[in-house]
Amino acid sequence: MSYQIAIDGPSGAGKSTVAKALAAKLGIIYVDTGALYRTVGYYVRRKETDPHDARLVTALLPEIRLELGYENGAQQVYLNGEAMGDKIRTPEMSMYASAVSAIGAVRDYLLDTQRSIAERHSVIMDGRDIGTVILPNAQVKIFLTASNECRAERRYRELTAKGIETTYESVLRDMIERDANDRNREVAPAVAAEDAVVFDNTGMEPEECAEALYRLVKEKLGL
Ligand code: DC
Repeated sequence: MSYQIAIDGPSGAGKSTVAKALAAKLGIIYVDTGALYRTVGYYVRRKETDPHDARLVTALLPEIRLELGYENGAQQVYLNGEAMGDKIRTPEMSMYASAVSAIGAVRDYLLDTQRSIAERHSVIMDGRDIGTVILPNAQVKIFLTASNECRAERRYRELTAKGIETTYESVLRDMIERDANDRNREVAPAVAAEDAVVFDNTGMEPEECAEALYRLVKEKLGL
């Protein structure tokens, strides 16, 4: 049986950590869709283009060829053949990704890439509009969230562990701004699907959260 699991929610809610753990337990593919928006943002930055300018950004799309690959089970995005790796993981790229993701043409451009993977494989996909737009028929939909402070703390630790210099205050400020952009945009706003299970994991360890959601997924799928 092939099936789809959608995990949406704001940044720092632990979507990717949980999705990776569930994908490993279930033996299915994990797709991090934020990486696709980050890669478009990266190209726009490289072209020194304003990421809020829909006309200019849309004009760049035909120059972009995106491919997804898997290395040792980890997703890699290729931009015109170049592996993105951690280049798309900086705070600057988070802001670029959020800005370009509000442009309808960018979302349309990435729609097929996302849907075509889910057509060929059982997947667990994380993002902002997976349950509402990309995979509206997903068998399991989860909207993962946590308090602002808890999410900022996680993001801060993640960034400093990668050697990126920042402060908790600036991470919190950027996160609140980015979440508001993502939630209030006109196209595919980052909101829970009506049939999603909303799960708040404030103060929970990643293993505890993954275990609780694994039970939920098994129950929903009848495994
Ligand atoms: O999940 P992330 O932080 O890597 O995502 C980066 C940005 O991309 C996020 O601010 C909003 C956008 N995004 C989106 O609009 N839809 C998705 N399915 C995934 C990400």
